[in-house]
Amino acid sequence: MNRYNTLKHIALALTLTISNIGFSQEWTVPEDAKSVVSSVPFSEMTQQQGKDLFNANCKSCHGAIGANAPLPLNPSPGDPASERFAAQVDGALFFKITNGRAGMPSFKNTLSDADRWALISYIRTFHPNYKGAVAENPSAVNTFKGGNIQMKVSFDDEKHMATVNLSGTENGSVVPASSVRVGAFVQRYFGQMKLGEPIKTNASGVATFEFPTDLQGDSIGQLKIIFKLIDEDKYGLVVAEQTVNWGEKFVYQNPLDQNALWGDRTAVPTWLLLSYFGVVLSVFAVIGWVVLQLLKLKNLK
Ligand code: HEC
Repeated sequence: MNRYNTLKHIALALTLTISNIGFSQEWTVPEDAKSVVSSVPFSEMTQQQGKDLFNANCKSCHGAIGANAPLPLNPSPGDPASERFAAQVDGALFFKITNGRAGMPSFKNTLSDADRWALISYIRTFHPNYKGAVAENPSAVNTFKGGNIQMKVSFDDEKHMATVNLSGTENGSVVPASSVRVGAFVQRYFGQMKLGEPIKTNASGVATFEFPTDLQGDSIGQLKIIFKLIDEDKYGLVVAEQTVNWGEKFVYQNPLDQNALWGDRTAVPTWLLLSYFGVVLSVFAVIGWVVLQLLKLKNLK
């Protein structure tokens, strides 16, 4: 009986150790999951959003970020500010947050894709060597009557050029979609700004766009470029978009600092100052003159 119990304990201890070894093994992420990049550009807004999400959903186990104080679990959750997290690509972190494992819950159903990316954008603010990944070759597919049309876009960051490649499936085989009009747009606050005239794809289904170098981007020079098929009624809405960092950085200039009519403090134009004081002085001069005349009247008595 005793011997049986001891054996049972040994067996239990062994199972626990083995399962622990099992869990502390490398957490492998499939290659195609690693190459996934964020669907939203990382910005101050996503970082703030990520911070709130982290404090609400992750802090209980991972501890205050940067404080190296995760819960003493096995395997350890780790501090997201640490090298253990910094060394992983965005896609790997996304995969782990999405799917979870052992003590790490899956957030697939509790947080949206955008929320999980926002979390990563926040965690990345603690990784000084992190370089943002920007999606390459976005593609859009749309099915229309008779086949489907696929748009693939590749970007040349140096020349500020983009190549749009259109192919269609017709009766089961893939063919280049020629003579299709493609329009390029830039996302602006109040809609999309058209960039030149639409370009027709050539016989191999290719249209090449060249962008001006003085496009205005956001505060870090990013802008979102959108390609769309113009003949929507024929092909449906086929859109591909991509954030590039070609834009000129947008620097806010306070109009009050300009040397103009509406300028204030030191920015007031000299002519305005002079005429203002001129008017004030002449008003006082007139008053003085009137007073002087009144005094003269008194002296007459
Ligand atoms: C219930 C506790 C718990 C919560 C809540 C939790 N985690 Fe974890 N997390 C863990 C544990 C434990 C591990 C280690 C899992 C392993 O290696 O098997 C882990 C691992 C991870 C990893 C992988 C680390 C690595 O080294 O590969 C990431 C990324 C991660 N967590 C992110 C998050 C985020 C983001 C949140 C909030 C949305 C979160 N976790 C919430 C316990 C938790």
